[in-house]
Amino acid sequence: MEIKTDIFLGDSKVELLKIPTDSVDLIVTSPPYADQRKGTYGGIHPDNYVSWFLPITQQLLRVLKPSGTFILNIKEKVVNGERSTYVMELILEMRKQGWLWTEEFIWHKKNCYPGKWPNRFRDAWERLLQFNKSKSFNMYQENVMVPMGDWAKTRLKNLSETDKTRDNSKVGSGFGKNISNWLTRDKAYPTNVLHLATECSNKNHSAAFPAELPEWFIKLFTKENDLVLDPFMGSGTTLVVANRMRRNSIGIDIVKDYYDIVKSQLPPVELYLLEPKGKYEKPKPKRRYAVR
Ligand SMILES: C[S@@+](CC[C@H](N)C(=O)[O-])C[C@H]1O[C@@H](n2cnc3c(N)ncnc32)[C@H](O)[C@@H]1O
Repeated sequence: MEIKTDIFLGDSKVELLKIPTDSVDLIVTSPPYADQRKGTYGGIHPDNYVSWFLPITQQLLRVLKPSGTFILNIKEKVVNGERSTYVMELILEMRKQGWLWTEEFIWHKKNCYPGKWPNRFRDAWERLLQFNKSKSFNMYQENVMVPMGDWAKTRLKNLSETDKTRDNSKVGSGFGKNISNWLTRDKAYPTNVLHLATECSNKNHSAAFPAELPEWFIKLFTKENDLVLDPFMGSGTTLVVANRMRRNSIGIDIVKDYYDIVKSQLPPVELYLLEPKGKYEKPKPKRRYAVR
């Protein structure tokens, strides 16, 4: 089956209207941070951030399939010595729109810059908020399992009696664990903390995220031929990874330079939706691209 990559130039608030309802399996994106990158692609004042973003999340809610997932990479900035609250306000407003705030993953930036501040330490993590439309969404947990590693050697070496029987949750959640079940396994489910280095080699964009970030969520929440959307594509990291993993993808950016960079990285263009079929030779690779 052909894999398609479709890119749009313009404001996501407008461009998203072109995407059909309930059509996207996964949205992974890193929007512009409040006021952070004024010199490059314009910033949104922290006080206006929620009202700027809500019309976009409304459209994202429309285009996402009920079985789909939205991963939002965001981090509140420090203003006048205090953390802004716009991320928390955004979560509350998105819940009013109908989103479920299912989970929060942490991106631990392994290689963050050294530095000293009078009232805080180095900022070494960002939020990866998970939103869904329904409690029952596609999740392929086996695809992101990790080797048991040292944990198996240390924690599992001296098992207590409780560890050898089912240890029911003390808070009455109904969940329980029997750690001895894991003795013979070589893989475990990961935690909700992703330890990834920031992208230093991507010179095309000042705020690109590492390829491993969309890759992990694409593995976890999609299968081949599914559709992945990045409404703030920047240098196109999400699209490149999705294409490599044989997922269809759609990207949007408001800055022509970024749009052109992504376009130039894509193999020969076929305007597959706008042009009548049969006008082009069949492309040699099985994947194909469209640019609007
Ligand atoms: C943090 S960057 C994304 C970087 C991307 N994840 C990557 O790996 O290159 C945010 C992007 O959103 C774009 N942007 C800002 N406002 C936008 C809007 N209203 N609609 C579409 N794109 C927008 C900016 O041009 C910028 O490239």
